Amino acid sequence: MNDAAPNAAPQTFYLKDYKPFGYEVESVKLTFQLSPNATKVHSAIRFTPKADAEDNRFFLHGEQLSLISAKIDGTPVTARLVDGGLECDVPRTSFLWEAEVEIDPAANTALEGLYMSNGMYCTQCEAEGFRKITYYPDRPDVMSTFTVRIEGDEPVMLSNGNPTGAGEGWAEWHDPWPKPAYLFALVAGDLVNHPGSFTTKSGKDVELNIWVRPGDEGKCAFGMEALKKSMKWDEDVYGLEYDLDLFNIVAVDDFNMGAMENKGLNIFNSSCVLASPETSTDANFERIEAIIAHEYFHNWTGNRITCRDWFQLCLKEGLTVFRDAQFTADMRSEPVKRIEDVIALRARQFPEDGGPLAHPPRPEEFQEINNFYTATVYEKGAEVIGMLKRLVGDDNYYKALNLYFERHDGQACTIEDWLKVFEDATGRDLSQFKLWYSQAGTPRVKVTEDYADGTYTLTFEQSTPPTPGQPEKAPRVIPMAVGLLSPNGDEVRGTQVLELTEAKQSFTFDGLASKPVPSILREFSAPVILERETTNSERAFLLAHDTDPFNRWEAGNALAKEVRVAMVLDGAAPDAAYLDALEKLVRDDEQDPAFRALVLSPPSQSDIAQTLHERGHTPDPQKIYDASETFTQTLAQQLETSLPRLYAATTVEGPYVPDADGAGKRALNSRILSLLTRLDGGEQAARQYASADNMTQQYAALAALMKAEKGEAQSKAFFEQWQDDRLVMDKWFALQIACAAPETTAATAKELTQHPLFSMKNPNRFRAVMGALAGNHAGFHHASGAGYQLLAENLIALDSVNPQTTARMCAAFQTWKRYDSKRQAQIQAELERILATSGLSRDTHEMVSRMLSA
Ligand code: PHE
Ligand code: ZN
Repeated sequence: MNDAAPNAAPQTFYLKDYKPFGYEVESVKLTFQLSPNATKVHSAIRFTPKADAEDNRFFLHGEQLSLISAKIDGTPVTARLVDGGLECDVPRTSFLWEAEVEIDPAANTALEGLYMSNGMYCTQCEAEGFRKITYYPDRPDVMSTFTVRIEGDEPVMLSNGNPTGAGEGWAEWHDPWPKPAYLFALVAGDLVNHPGSFTTKSGKDVELNIWVRPGDEGKCAFGMEALKKSMKWDEDVYGLEYDLDLFNIVAVDDFNMGAMENKGLNIFNSSCVLASPETSTDANFERIEAIIAHEYFHNWTGNRITCRDWFQLCLKEGLTVFRDAQFTADMRSEPVKRIEDVIALRARQFPEDGGPLAHPPRPEEFQEINNFYTATVYEKGAEVIGMLKRLVGDDNYYKALNLYFERHDGQACTIEDWLKVFEDATGRDLSQFKLWYSQAGTPRVKVTEDYADGTYTLTFEQSTPPTPGQPEKAPRVIPMAVGLLSPNGDEVRGTQVLELTEAKQSFTFDGLASKPVPSILREFSAPVILERETTNSERAFLLAHDTDPFNRWEAGNALAKEVRVAMVLDGAAPDAAYLDALEKLVRDDEQDPAFRALVLSPPSQSDIAQTLHERGHTPDPQKIYDASETFTQTLAQQLETSLPRLYAATTVEGPYVPDADGAGKRALNSRILSLLTRLDGGEQAARQYASADNMTQQYAALAALMKAEKGEAQSKAFFEQWQDDRLVMDKWFALQIACAAPETTAATAKELTQHPLFSMKNPNRFRAVMGALAGNHAGFHHASGAGYQLLAENLIALDSVNPQTTARMCAAFQTWKRYDSKRQAQIQAELERILATSGLSRDTHEMVSRMLSA
């Protein structure tokens, strides 16, 4: 059943309408009698009216609940069922509300509230799922302690906090930390645990567990180590300790997102916690480590200090993403992590910020909050914190954070509270900086330079294109990290942070013997688009000499894009100087393999499309594909004689260890293998496939073979070997579509939707297929329109099963206005077809309307 009543005018919620709830919730006691189709939930909630309440309407949220009975202080009452919940007349003094409801977890395919995944009960309450469990003031500023009793015959029955008792058919839990309902969790099923322990810096022993389905025990060790590292890191870097005796993680196969930070009981998409060398790639290991850290870090930034309302989502998400990025940088390589994050930001956040779905990190209105778990809220939210840290300096940053934890522990806060601690800790006025939270769109910064009599001048002009609802933008504070190199490659000015605050602003550097080469936006110090007239030879110079590793990569990346843009627009041949620079870099063993792998990785085709669009061209996906193929083929040919030697030299011997060092080497080796496979008929890749003892190398070999259309046998073998492993099968589904040629992509995807292992009910599988379709740029945008059509059909089918995942995947169409009129018309027709679907969810309705109306 869908959330929205068909044809109901969707309600819009506004930040400006915030009003506190009129009642204090003193305590919550829940009793669950589990049954797949008829679970009974009894709630006993003590409410106290607030003396100073502006509004004392007693409204409890509730959706898809069958109310059996309601009582106040033991006396049955009649509640009025209203849209989205109930109302009741209540006393003006403290009272005990009791309600009994029945719910149907087995029918809950939306995976929000209490649902079932492979016979196991589990919950997902963020953002507004608790209201599908019982009637409650389901808003993050209502915080209370929870006591939970679970009755059922499941061998393992878990909830938040500490266990307080258990017996045959029941278990009780108590969470002493007041929390909003979105952090409530319950899990019950046939689970086994991988145990661990951690002693906090003040000497408290914490029991740790990762709970999985029988058979997955062997895939928990890495996650457990990541958890312990996260706990230690948060103590060392932020001084934050864990605050319960127990920390549980549960792996669930059917999950809409990556993972969830429920207090003391984190629930993870199994793809974000289960790992083994045989089944997971290096990239999987890195991601798992980061997500475990992210959820753990939420214990303070999210749980102890939560959000006042959902408009403040980036308060917890931006900060926690920022913290997990710091963690990964410390555990692995700082520059590599920064480069990966910028690639991801440009791939996911820039298109959002430049299209019809653009919104500020703190939105001011929404229809469905689930649609705002976006790259802007998360990743741009984290960039904003990185800028703040750069502006105030490290010491002030940690001073402000200490004040934040001291002042706001146990509270539900706003972005204003967050900025105020920085103002109070540093004495700085952050009113202009605050624009980053309220203005959407990626600023463009145009840079010009001038040199005369030993003085070098950099002039910056900032402007932000209009975004929906925001035609005009004021200049923002932009920290611009800059260094200067002399023409012989020496750094003549180390990194300095220039603070842009005006629409146009100049900075001078004196005493320079010759005109320097500037290295601008080092470490990607602000999420902006830099526009500067420069030459490929200057880019090559920076690629060779810049002392800032990020900007060295950036110079190579800019070159790579320029060369492809010239190929697409002018039919130019691949630039010989760039090919030479790449060749030199590949062979340079002094350079970090991970860095070489990154420079050798081509910019994505959608990134080229984005670049063309930024420059006022209409991207032609087929031409971009062709240029990319020609370039890679030419590079392979140029390196032909050295490829076998390079392959051998970069092969990592010895047992597989998923650390950063090994991962970097394997990444380089895989790049070389993919080039070699274009020339040797797949011989080397077939040998690697046959001998690989870990998924990273098995997968790299399979990918190289499939891309070269030489992988049919290996793809079959891969299926035979892994058909019982859901997570590995997701890779198999996705890879076939990712490797397909543009004209066969949609057909390949369509065929896979007919495969017996395809499922609409499992978000990971759906995303493996439809996400790979949308991710194959030339295939998805093939002129036939078959890609658009297939995605739309599947989204329509998924909407009645799982609105949240449908709505998120609709964003694949968000760039539609940048393509030619024929493609625009095709996409528009598909969007209109989706919108016309009867009973369309509120989630999908909002996303598609926003895309169509811009
Ligand atoms: N709060 C989760 C996180 O960022 C994400 C999430 C949101 C999960 C909504 C489920 C539902 O870690
Ligand atoms: Zn988060």
